[in-house]
Amino acid sequence: PGLIVTEPTLVRGPGVWRLQFGPWLWEEGHLTCFPVRCRLGPLFSMQLGPHFTLVVNSYDLAKEVLLTRGRDFAGRPKMVLPVMQYTLRTADPRGKDIAFCDYSALWKSHRRLVHSALSLFGEGGRLQDIGKFFVPPLSSSSSSSGNAFDPSAAVTRAVTNVVCTLVFSATYRRDDAELKEVIDYNNGIVETIARGGLVDLFPWLQRFPSRSLTKLKQCITVRDRLLQRKLDQHKASLSDGDGGIDPRDLLEALLRGQEGQKSEVISDDHVLMTAAETFGAGVETTSTTLLWIIAYMLHHPEVQARAQRELEEQVGLERPVRLSDRTRLPYVEAVIQEGLRIRPVSPVLIPHTALTRTSLGGHPVQPGTRVLVNMWALHHNPTDWPQPDLFKPERFLDGRGGRVSPSCFLPFGAGPRVCVGESLARLELFLFLSSLLQRISFSLPPAGPVPDLRGRLGVVLQPPPYLVVATPRHT
Ligand code: HEM
Repeated sequence: PGLIVTEPTLVRGPGVWRLQFGPWLWEEGHLTCFPVRCRLGPLFSMQLGPHFTLVVNSYDLAKEVLLTRGRDFAGRPKMVLPVMQYTLRTADPRGKDIAFCDYSALWKSHRRLVHSALSLFGEGGRLQDIGKFFVPPLSSSSSSSGNAFDPSAAVTRAVTNVVCTLVFSATYRRDDAELKEVIDYNNGIVETIARGGLVDLFPWLQRFPSRSLTKLKQCITVRDRLLQRKLDQHKASLSDGDGGIDPRDLLEALLRGQEGQKSEVISDDHVLMTAAETFGAGVETTSTTLLWIIAYMLHHPEVQARAQRELEEQVGLERPVRLSDRTRLPYVEAVIQEGLRIRPVSPVLIPHTALTRTSLGGHPVQPGTRVLVNMWALHHNPTDWPQPDLFKPERFLDGRGGRVSPSCFLPFGAGPRVCVGESLARLELFLFLSSLLQRISFSLPPAGPVPDLRGRLGVVLQPPPYLVVATPRHT
């Protein structure tokens, strides 16, 4: 009782029949997130291919999966294409990554090492002045005459450049061939994985020739060659005694962390997969969040104006924004929070699996059961978020200049599987957005359409392409 089992059903939409299963609609060749919470209740099950799957649509149950019984539900299913992106290199079926690796003692040490390596880039670390990377690529693709452009390539390029700096200390010029190579292989991996959903449901499809699989292999080969070269260079410079007191980047931090472990524990493959994962999990998510925020600011110019006023009053227009300015810019932070709420880039969390016999909402759950947490439903529940479809950064302010962060707001997940890059992502989003708004005003092209705010679900929930005019605020 209480569990509603839904079979895939045909739903008559405006003029078309659509296949509906669970919280998604298969529509125009892609999966669209669909807020079904009200109709289907807080918990339902469905059969996705061979996998019995529970879908969680309420905060209380999400808290149970992620926190209260977080250890019971900390497993990951073996998903064909995502796992393949890490295992082609090593032929090790369990992978050496974090996101798709199942829960184990080794996985925990690896995750702990990565977490502490990433925290080196926090307060006082190398991220302090990265704001300067962000503006030139974007402003150079606009023009003072007000030409409209699609901001997605420029934003992706800037975020990729920052991740390259963090991972292996390379900062590229806008049209550098190596930067282009990184962007191309990363895009290729993201696109093929986004298209590979059916292979995950029906793994036997792998046996058939597939353009996606061939492209995935090509991209991974290019990626592994580049990252191996960077790793060799880092090892050589460490053995020459070139390292300072603090590691200069993520690869160096991981290599030093590796020294403190027993030899077989964190291997070179773990180090390489972590570098690969920082691109895979860190570029698309961060750039897409920024693109959503810019799209919403085009719909709400008053939000952009208020954020810019706060920046002028608290920082001014001359000096670069620093991390330490964060406490004085609550409205800018609230804009980021509201962007993460209204369009969570991960509207359904990466699937969890039950590691043991456990329960959820009082119902028994067998080991191996897949659990999908519907973040979209949590972030659009009208009880927690009045008028959930309106973009209102004030939700995250208390009216006296203080911040509010409701517990039902979980854009990075929570518990043992919480996003390992959360603090890095928050720093990047803050420095990126504030330095853009300090220097640029975004507006709609003359007589141009406002961005379409219905998301397209690939690996992340993306805004459809849109045009923007970027006008420099001062010269
Ligand atoms: C996992 C969100 C940026 C690395 C996740 C999860 C979410 C998320 C929702 C899944 C949690 C779960 O399954 O319960 C985001 C958002 C980002 C972002 C919204 C930016 C706006 C990053 C960055 C990195 C990163 C910059 C790189 C360092 C990871 C990894 C996992 C993960 C490795 C898997 C964690 C695990 O399975 O234990 N992220 N993420 N993410 N994220 Fe992020």
